[in-house]
Amino acid sequence: MSSETATSFPAGFVWGAATAAFQIEGAAHEDGRGESVWDRFCATPGRVRTGDTGEIACDFFHRYPEDVALMKELGIDAFRFSISWPRVLPAGRGAVNSAGLDFYDRVVDELLGHGIEPYVTLFHWDTPQVLEDEGGWRVRETAEAFIELAVAVAGRLGDRVTRWMTINEPWVYAWIGNQQGVHAPGRTSEADAVAVAHHLLLGHGWATEAIRSAVPDAQVGIVLDLWQPYPASDSPEDEAAASQLDEEHNRWFLEPLYRGAYPDALPERLELVAPYVREGDLEAISTPTDFLGINNYSRAVVAAGPVGPEEVRVPGAQYTEMGWEVFPEGLARVLTRVTEEYDPPALFVMENGAAFADVRAHDGGVHDPERTAYLDCYIAAVERSIEDGAPVKGYFVWSLLDNFEWAFGYAMRFGIVFVDFPTLERVPKDSFYWYRDWIASHKPAPVGTAG
Ligand code: FCB
Repeated sequence: MSSETATSFPAGFVWGAATAAFQIEGAAHEDGRGESVWDRFCATPGRVRTGDTGEIACDFFHRYPEDVALMKELGIDAFRFSISWPRVLPAGRGAVNSAGLDFYDRVVDELLGHGIEPYVTLFHWDTPQVLEDEGGWRVRETAEAFIELAVAVAGRLGDRVTRWMTINEPWVYAWIGNQQGVHAPGRTSEADAVAVAHHLLLGHGWATEAIRSAVPDAQVGIVLDLWQPYPASDSPEDEAAASQLDEEHNRWFLEPLYRGAYPDALPERLELVAPYVREGDLEAISTPTDFLGINNYSRAVVAAGPVGPEEVRVPGAQYTEMGWEVFPEGLARVLTRVTEEYDPPALFVMENGAAFADVRAHDGGVHDPERTAYLDCYIAAVERSIEDGAPVKGYFVWSLLDNFEWAFGYAMRFGIVFVDFPTLERVPKDSFYWYRDWIASHKPAPVGTAG
C-alpha cells in the first residue's frame, strides 16, 4: 500500500524512464566509435526528415551527469538505455574498444551513485555499418557477432547490472527497416525482413545464454512492440484482417519465443523463413526468459483492404503527433492477453509515451497537459491489467528527453524533459513534475509510518 494513494501496484514496482543510444548520445566520432547503419542512413539525402543526424543528438555522452541529476529529481527507480554496438565493437566483431565501454561504465556508476538501477538494452537498432555491408541481420553471422557484443558488455557491466534486454522491437527493425525502407538500413524486401527477424530472434536466444554465463544473477528478456489489432467493424472480412495483422505483427514473435514454433497461420511467411531455420534455432529462440518487455503506444484498427489488412482512423478519436490513436485500453488488453496466452513470469512496460508539438512558453516552462493526461490514463490501464492478473513489475515512460525520433529526426518530441536542440538546454515539462509527484505518491510508505 502506498503512503497516500490506494493502489494495485505491488511493492517494489519499478518506475522508470527509457532512452536509446543513437537517439540521445551524439559524440558520433569520439573515443573510437565506428559507423552505424543509422549514421549512414542519416547521411543519405531524403532518408530522414530535414536531414537531421545523430552526430550530436542530446549530447548525453557528455551531459549524462546533468541528466542523471534530473532523473534523481524525478525520483525514478530505474533508467533504461541502450548500448551503441559500434562504440563497443567498431568493426562489428573482434577487437573490443575499451574506451567505448568506459562510457557505459561511467553512466552505470553515475546511476548507481544516485540510487537508480540501470536497465541495459544491447540492441536498439544501431547495427555496425561494416556488418551491414556483409549482409547485416539478413545473415546468420550478424547474430553470431551479436554474441560478442553481449559477452563484451556483460563482462564489463555485469558486476553492477542485473537487468538486461537483448533486442528492442524486432518487428520494427525487420519490417520498417527492411521491408518498408523507412528506417535504416532502408531495404524494401519482405524476404529480407523475414530473414532479419529470424536472425534477430536467434541473436536474442544466443545473447540470453551469453549474458547468463557472464552474470549469474542476470534477469534477461526481449522487448516487443505489441499493438493490439481491433477490427474496424464486425464484418467477417475485417475480423479476419485484424487477426492476420495479429499473426504478422505479434504472434510471429510471441509464438517462437514462447512455444518454439512460427505460427502456421502464415504459410507464405513460413516458406520464406524455412531456408534460414537450422536445427536448434527454435530451441535457442525459445530459451526461457525472466521477463517480457512490452512497448506500447496505441492500437491498430484494421479493415480488409484490396491487398491485405489496412489500418484505418477512428472518427472523433484523439491522435498524437505521430498519428497514433490515444487508446489506453489497448495497452491493458495487450498485457492481459499476453498473460493469458503465454504466462510470462514477469512483464515490464518498457516504453509508453506520446509526441505532442511542445513549445517553450513565455514563462519559460513547457506546458503539455495532453502528455500528462496520456500518461495518467495509460498508467491507469497498467493498473487495471495488474488487477486482472498481469504480472507487471515496472513501467518506463518514453522518453526522458526529447530526442532523435528516427526518420522524423528532431521533429517529434516524446520527452518529459524538453531539449532546446540549438543550445541543448534541458527544460522539464509539466508532465515531468506530474510524473515526479505520481511516483512519490505511489512509493511504499517508509517503515514506521504505515497505518
Ligand atoms: C519505439 C522505439 C523508440 C521510440 C518510440 C517512439 O518504436 O523503440 O526508440 O522511437 O518508438
